Amino acid sequence: MMQQSASARKPKPPEMSSTDSLAVALADLDVLLAAGLNAFKSAATSEAVEASRIDYLGQKQGRLRAAQDRLKSLEPASRRAYGQQFNAAKAALEAALDAARVRVERRATTPIGLDVTLPGIRPRLGHRHPLTQTADELIDLFGRFGFAVARGPEVEDVHHNFDALNIPPNHFARDPLDNFYLAADGEPSQPEAPATSRSESALSRSGPPTAMLRSQTSTVQIRVMESQPPPVRVIAIGRVYRPDTVDATHSFMFHQIEGLMVDRGVTMAHLKSVLRLFAESYLGREVKIRFRPSFFPFTEPSVEVDMLWHGGERWVEMGGAGMVDPNVLRSVGYDPEDVTGFAFGLGIERLCMRRHGIDDIRLLYQNDVRFLRQF
Ligand code: FA5
Repeated sequence: MMQQSASARKPKPPEMSSTDSLAVALADLDVLLAAGLNAFKSAATSEAVEASRIDYLGQKQGRLRAAQDRLKSLEPASRRAYGQQFNAAKAALEAALDAARVRVERRATTPIGLDVTLPGIRPRLGHRHPLTQTADELIDLFGRFGFAVARGPEVEDVHHNFDALNIPPNHFARDPLDNFYLAADGEPSQPEAPATSRSESALSRSGPPTAMLRSQTSTVQIRVMESQPPPVRVIAIGRVYRPDTVDATHSFMFHQIEGLMVDRGVTMAHLKSVLRLFAESYLGREVKIRFRPSFFPFTEPSVEVDMLWHGGERWVEMGGAGMVDPNVLRSVGYDPEDVTGFAFGLGIERLCMRRHGIDDIRLLYQNDVRFLRQF
């Protein structure tokens, strides 16, 4: 009898053992994959996503790492099948990790929803400039006294700015150094040689310019009277220009309100009453104003009107006024024997400053919102 080899005598391992362990390993891999996909899908924060990454894909102790180590314990013949399944599971888990990261990131930067019951965000609205507010209030106030609003051009002709207002050709008010004349075609707008004195420069101008930026709103008096018969009761508001040196109460451009009333029997008493009533209505009953005798070529008699400034120690000029000169009435075709009138011209900046306690006119033009938002 032939002797059996040792190996032949050794009992063979059961045929199914390597196939079983592959099947179990693959099943475990499926379970791991399903659990991992679920973990990434349900992770709601970036911290939860990171915890799942460490749990499943962590290099040292991750579950996938353990599943990879299991490869060595399989029969060599089973390793290829297991390896393929392992790679597919790993790719699926990595894709799930990426998707989870994108999802939580988007959720963090996207508003969760719109709560329509919350109070809205109020848009910041601008408002009218204090000078515009002043002008509007003056129009309203004089409207209640029966004054309509008239308008005139800012680029004015010399006739309306001076001649029609009874201002003679050699009057110092026409001095080019005190006015912004405008050049006609080919003409210089200002004198070529420097002036030696005010009246001399006015007189020595050759070929006087005919257009200018108006230096006073009194021009509108003339335009209104030229366009209608008496009675007249109007105000005119607008910009005027003078090359004055700028300081706390002077600017080279400012605003005036002009008033004109012409009718039978109008007197100086009416003028003073209207201006007092106006000052008390706009500046308050406690305001103090005074009338000072003065001179304007277009009114006779004439006054300056002063108001007591903030602090109560200084008088500041508010405007000029007077009874319309008969020459002016005649020049527009009115009969000074039949009608009389008063006129006034007040500085709007100074009224606004006195009303609001503003101590420097320049604040009104700087457009600093910290200043403007107070009004
Ligand atoms: C006139 O302009 C005359 N037309 C007023 C008038 C009208 C008199 C009708 C008679 C009848 P006056 O130059 O004084 O007057 O200016 C009037 C007011 O304008 C001043 O009282 C002042 O309040 C204001 N004002 C004058 N110059 C400036 C300036 N550079 N900056 C700011 N306000 C000024």
